[in-house]
Amino acid sequence: CLRRVDTFLHRGIGTKVVAAQTEAAVKHDSVEKNDGRKSLYAVQAERQEQAERSVLISCYSRIKHNMFLKYLSRHGDIKKHFFYENNGVYAVVEFARQESVASLLEGASIPRVSQESVVPFKSRLLSLRNLDSGESSNRPSSQRAQPQTAPTINDVMQRLSKQESIDQQITQLTEAYQLTEENISLRYLVCSLLKDVAAGYFPECTIKPFGSSVNGFGKLGCDLDMFLDLDGISGQNMKMPTPGLCLEYQLKMGNSERATTQNILSVIGECVEHFAPGCVGLHKILNARCPLVRFAHQPSGFQCDLTANNRVAMKSTELLYLYGELDPRVRLLVFTVRCWARTHGVTSSIPGAWITNFSLTVMVLFFLQKRSPPIIPTLDELRDLAGPADKSVIEGNDCTFVSDFGNIPLHGNTATPGQLLREFFDFYASFPFNKMSICIRKGTEQNKPEVAPLHIQNPFETSLNVSKNVNAAQLQRFTALCQESAWLSCQSQTMMPKSKRKMIESDEFTSRNISRTFWGVSCGLIWILFEHFIREGWQEKFQERSVWSNICGHLLAHIHPFRKLIRIS
Ligand code: CTP
Ligand code: MG
Repeated sequence: CLRRVDTFLHRGIGTKVVAAQTEAAVKHDSVEKNDGRKSLYAVQAERQEQAERSVLISCYSRIKHNMFLKYLSRHGDIKKHFFYENNGVYAVVEFARQESVASLLEGASIPRVSQESVVPFKSRLLSLRNLDSGESSNRPSSQRAQPQTAPTINDVMQRLSKQESIDQQITQLTEAYQLTEENISLRYLVCSLLKDVAAGYFPECTIKPFGSSVNGFGKLGCDLDMFLDLDGISGQNMKMPTPGLCLEYQLKMGNSERATTQNILSVIGECVEHFAPGCVGLHKILNARCPLVRFAHQPSGFQCDLTANNRVAMKSTELLYLYGELDPRVRLLVFTVRCWARTHGVTSSIPGAWITNFSLTVMVLFFLQKRSPPIIPTLDELRDLAGPADKSVIEGNDCTFVSDFGNIPLHGNTATPGQLLREFFDFYASFPFNKMSICIRKGTEQNKPEVAPLHIQNPFETSLNVSKNVNAAQLQRFTALCQESAWLSCQSQTMMPKSKRKMIESDEFTSRNISRTFWGVSCGLIWILFEHFIREGWQEKFQERSVWSNICGHLLAHIHPFRKLIRIS
């Protein structure tokens, strides 16, 4: 029962790269071994191939849906298509055969412009014109174009308030925010379009999505992390030389791997900025620990981070995906906690001292490892289950873990997602962050090796702290919110009949609610005062305005029937 993965949760992505095997063999093998579930490697190969056969078309004409498809199918059978809206209507069209794309591009023309000069770089991003009837920005009439952005919080609240239980709300929330099939296809297509730019220099390269676009935890609107994979060219998967004569390429030598990565990203970044249509606002962030170029891809609306030589991040993506596939409650809890964190400003889209989604995900995984019995295994356990083909050492880091889902024993913990959410808040409300580090490799707290406020060990580069950026104030906010949410969920547990327990309420203004609220507010006030005075040292802090404004904020948040409270936890 615990191994069942609900249909909606099932994303086909998974785990391993084996240099010695061919792509097809790995693909077949990994599907077979994983009880029909595909590995990340298998899905990436499949999706990349689909993306190569696809084109992205801006539809400015009044042309009808049928007419549009009929026009395109002159070049060959169309396997899949969808329309989406993003400041105009776009169509993603996947042909059944690669030759159709070549034929379509052959028939496309260069636009005539009078004032500006065109950069003659032809790509698979096209515009549809109707020269007979003039141009119009109307959508193709017979098909609804889907937005590719996350639903608004109000929409999600509406959906959640119709649900009967917290478990149903958690499921609904995940369904509302998770990446759609179309959005994933679009992400692969954008990678494929960018690969065409990089292929000018490195014809055998690939650009693969990693991070939340493919690890199963992506929310609509999340950034597109891309990895320029040059391993096929750069000798990472080198053939053993045979005795006798042999020819070698003469290659330019860089000072270091990092310098080479920086140079490649810099040049590819320039090409993207100057040649690739639709790519704007490029920033080179080459001195970061992991050098990257960041830009916006306007037709898809994705913010893109292009990295190179980032194989460890690819491994952590595979690991997160594996955990998400092992038990449906992993994804449910990650989505809910991420949403909770975003709603309360614990995470942010702006880089800073905030906890990141990746850190938060690792915290959820650690919490699930600490259940009794554990819901997911530790990384060391996954390593011990690995077969010889799973062995992977990247830059001296042991990245080995089992890729065969069927080989991973689960322990039959039957807690519901709602129970787990409450336990999550309890767990981190009292976690000894000052002394201990979170470590999913061991699945137990470790002594903190450095003085950072929050220490989360990177699962593969174990000397690194994933949450190095987090400052003491942000960690304190997180802990305080966990305490508050634990308290609120405890209140809803004891005050509500079982059938009415939800994580979000759209309250009716009833006398019963008023009396509950009165007691709730009183307890809340005592609790908040207690918490502040204990934590802040009350003699000095008593005078400070920030304490009082904080308390007022908490109080307002508790007087919910007066404000039609719609609140998570
Ligand atoms: N990563 C990592 N160590 C970090 C930060 C990131 O290994 N300190 C890797 C993880 O595999 C992560 C990926 O880089 O999934 C992308 O990072 P980021 O975009 O920050 O996180 P996402 O998981 O993609 O989440 P989000 O939806 O916020 O983009
Ligand atoms: Mg990301």
